[in-house]
Amino acid sequence: PRRVHLAPSLLSCDFTRLGEELRTIQSADWAHVDVMDGQFVPNISFGLPILAAARRATTLFLDVHLMIDRPERYLRDFADAGADGLTVHVEATPHIHRAVQQIRELGKKAGVTLNPGTPLEAVRPVLADVDLVLVMSVNPGFGGQKFIPQSLDRIRTLRRWLDELGSPAELQVDGGVSPTNARAVVNAGATCLVAGSAVFGSDGAAAGLERLREALK
Ligand code: DX5
Ligand code: ZN
Repeated sequence: PRRVHLAPSLLSCDFTRLGEELRTIQSADWAHVDVMDGQFVPNISFGLPILAAARRATTLFLDVHLMIDRPERYLRDFADAGADGLTVHVEATPHIHRAVQQIRELGKKAGVTLNPGTPLEAVRPVLADVDLVLVMSVNPGFGGQKFIPQSLDRIRTLRRWLDELGSPAELQVDGGVSPTNARAVVNAGATCLVAGSAVFGSDGAAAGLERLREALK
């Protein structure tokens, strides 16, 4: 079986204690950083200074999910601020191939993603050129939403396409992932689970992570 990475989403953490929250999730493999611009998605989260602060506080792989229009304008800035991986939306630029190329030229892991309403075919032309494919299982913009069940079929199809290419890319899933559906998501072919509200619950990130790990056993 494939090794599964957990990527807690900092969007749901306590920003007044960012450093401590990062220490609590140190046993996870990645930290997922959700950047929203109020244009591509109807919400504004945080940007470069918060990423830079996270970078100073952790050695975790910083997996930056750019929910911003025309992300190519800012790829270098996010790379300089400490991103290890940058994921861009196919809907956000007419030049997805160039954006992916630019991320690799910056020496970072390149990810591509798409909204639940976007046909999977939209990412197919760049599949061989990415290190990560992210299936959004909610409409991006907010934490704490319900997992869209049709996402499982989309994960299966992308799993098949990646396997056909012999691609080692991570197949990541983001939105509404919880101990209830984590096993099904992995069985469908995912290798990396993003989880915000399921990790940073009222009893803390350590307990949240533990519940997810238990569900995957
Ligand atoms: C949604 C973000 C997600 C979000 C996940 O726009 O991309 O990463 O933080 O939060 P949960 O796990 O609560 O759905
Ligand atoms: Zn995200």
